[in-house]
Amino acid sequence: MPSDTLTITDNRTGKSYTLPIANGAVRAMDLRQIRTSPSDFGLLSYDPAFTNTASTISRITEIDGDRGILRYRGYPIEELAERSNYLEVAYLLLHGELPTLSQMDDWIWQVTHHTWVHENVKKFMDGFHHDAHPMGMLISTVAALSTFYPEARDVSDVTRRLQVVRLIAKMPTLAAFAFRHSLGLPYAYPDNELSYTGNFLNMLFKTTEVKYQPNQTIERALEVLFILHADHEQNCSTNAVRSVGSSQVDPYSALAGGVAALYGPLHGGANEEVLRMLRSVGSKDRIPEFIRQVKDGKAKLMGFGHRVYKNYDPRAKIIKRMADEVFEVTRPSELLPIALELERIALEDDYFVSRKLYPNVDFYSGLIYQAIGFPVEMFPVLFAIPRTSGWLAQWQEMRGDPEQKIARPRQLYLGAGQRGYVEIGKRDEPPTGGG
Ligand code: SDX
Repeated sequence: MPSDTLTITDNRTGKSYTLPIANGAVRAMDLRQIRTSPSDFGLLSYDPAFTNTASTISRITEIDGDRGILRYRGYPIEELAERSNYLEVAYLLLHGELPTLSQMDDWIWQVTHHTWVHENVKKFMDGFHHDAHPMGMLISTVAALSTFYPEARDVSDVTRRLQVVRLIAKMPTLAAFAFRHSLGLPYAYPDNELSYTGNFLNMLFKTTEVKYQPNQTIERALEVLFILHADHEQNCSTNAVRSVGSSQVDPYSALAGGVAALYGPLHGGANEEVLRMLRSVGSKDRIPEFIRQVKDGKAKLMGFGHRVYKNYDPRAKIIKRMADEVFEVTRPSELLPIALELERIALEDDYFVSRKLYPNVDFYSGLIYQAIGFPVEMFPVLFAIPRTSGWLAQWQEMRGDPEQKIARPRQLYLGAGQRGYVEIGKRDEPPTGGG
């Protein structure tokens, strides 16, 4: 019997089946042959939230959750954070190789010359309340971009690259417009002489100066944060982009689905919730009471835990180290001592250790964003900008994968059996106290 096979016996029939094992997995469709009768649909695999399901073969990002390893196209995240920049990493994710000098020059030119948005986008933005959450604005405006580029509905190779460039280029512009709208400030336009992150800072914070000069330390910190947030294999929002994109809708609509998924407090919205959690704890002497609430299931330690990492998130290590550099040019966060003490306790307390709950990418990033001057509502937006290149790389890979058809999972139906319609007035009243 070949070694890379799985032999299982269906005890309902006594029949045995041998399934091939490839890349550490069996194909779920191979279970369908396991039936109790010719009319039987065959076995399904039941995996709510896909906790043990590989939805695709990918060559973009590799994570080893037990060893705390993250690599983009084989390059360790630590090396990229130390030596690369965001646009180079975006190119790597999308093309599979680091760019040559000429490829990088062309890539920078492309992205730089697509940072502007149609003036009507401003009217769209102006329609939001002054206190509209910027993630709600971003979801809407990313989707609205699909109406400005109707040719994007052709998801073939021809226009795909241009839409990819447009989305990477325009996401910071939309984010900055949402930020300025929330402050009641006029929109600041892109400055094509600045770097990707320098221009983002310009569109956020430019006031009356003729030319905005980004702070070099903050500009580099954003570059590193953007690199760290660029991709993370099949996370919730990437799964959303792949699933929505599998219907062959345009990439703007598919990415709007990704932004919506990222907005959730269990995903990209966690960095916002971390700051709220630290503020609600308020002081180190109130930490023991908060930890008790977490253990009683009345609160979550936001910024801790991960579906894949059962070790320290390698991104959190880098962000934690970088925080000190940012605090030297801004102001140390008054919440940092609370965060450090929470982390110290969590890394010793058996409740967290037994559940392998370590700080994730969201635990320290918010402290840096706060020190730079962002309101907490902007934190998930700062996650969405860099994740755009990861979403697009994954969307492209899905579009090019002959095995990827429209995503359409099955279910296990345990609802009511067939029953006849009864006219209203003749239906039995529910037992007293029924809903
Ligand atoms: C991101 O997937 C990705 O790659 C995401 C991401 C990316 O780059 O795309 O890495 C970005 O989303 C990071 C995660 C940010 N979210 C948070 O920090 C929110 C707090 N974390 C949790 O909600 C939770 O850890 C998740 C959502 C991140 C993971 O949830 P899982 O894998 O479904 O684990 P679980 O909820 O089943 O928890 C297992 C146990 C449970 O206890 P028991 O029921 O077994 O007693 O651990 C407990 C949970 O109650 N637990 C926590 C906890 N996280 C899990 N208890 C307290 N605080 C927490 N943060």
